[in-house]
Amino acid sequence: MTEAAAKQRRWDPVVRITHWTIALAVLANAIITEDGSAPHIWVGYGLAAILALRLLWGLVGPAEARFVAFWPSPRKAIAHLREIRSGTVTRHASHNPLGALMVFAIWSCLLVIIATGIAMAGVPPLTDAASGGEQRVAYEDEERTDHDAEHAGEEASGEADEVLEETHEVAANLLYLLILLHIAGVLFETRRSGRQVLVAMSPLRR
Ligand code: HEM
Ligand code: HEM
Repeated sequence: MTEAAAKQRRWDPVVRITHWTIALAVLANAIITEDGSAPHIWVGYGLAAILALRLLWGLVGPAEARFVAFWPSPRKAIAHLREIRSGTVTRHASHNPLGALMVFAIWSCLLVIIATGIAMAGVPPLTDAASGGEQRVAYEDEERTDHDAEHAGEEASGEADEVLEETHEVAANLLYLLILLHIAGVLFETRRSGRQVLVAMSPLRR
């Protein structure tokens, strides 16, 4: 194997395509769509579907895309830090140990954002008639039965909504920070190891 080939890592198309579509969806919801608007919610559902595909791929995909290939561990992360200090480079078939920590941190953040987003937005109705009508009837029934209980219920759900909104926003801000560190890590690793990690993730490669 030539030196150049040895430096090359190949990510399969599912990893590459899900990476860039997730990145685009995050970018869209962070700076283009209006918070809580219909486009924001639809981009959000798209993001949830793509992430689900990538996570499924972590169980059934090719060896280097599987969770077992880059399961994070403090021991491996510390060994990796020592390598950085001593200037030695180990070639990892999958994400390197610090990169793996970052990948799981980003995924966890995305899952919190998706869960709180869906809890706020609800599951989209298949048809208008299927949702609105029934919901209105249910509210009317509530009105007739117990007015005070309804009021208390509204306050509780208002507080729950606030918690969801706060959690959604904090997780989004944490995600932005992780993404900056992620990009810095990619550039650092490219310089340090000489591996073209960005080329391996390029959506244009076959
Ligand atoms: C919203 C922005 C982004 C998010 C949420 C994100 C998230 C992720 C995630 C979750 C992975 C793991 C991929 C997998 O195994 O499926 C990853 C890998 C990677 N990302 Fe990003 N990313 C973003 C932006 C970027 C940008 C702008 C670059 C270019 C500098 C980049 C370069 C890479 C590379 C090269 C890898 C592979 C690292 C390795 O070889 O171990 N990412 N990213
Ligand atoms: C990574 C992707 C996402 C980012 C960066 C993001 C970011 C945000 C931000 C910053 C807000 C404003 C929070 C506030 O006003 O306190 C917001 C609101 C909202 N987001 Fe997202 N979001 C994302 C994904 C989602 C998803 C997946 C859904 C649902 C499917 C969703 C549904 C909502 C809703 C319903 C609101 C309105 C909350 C309210 O003011 O009542 N978002 N989002």
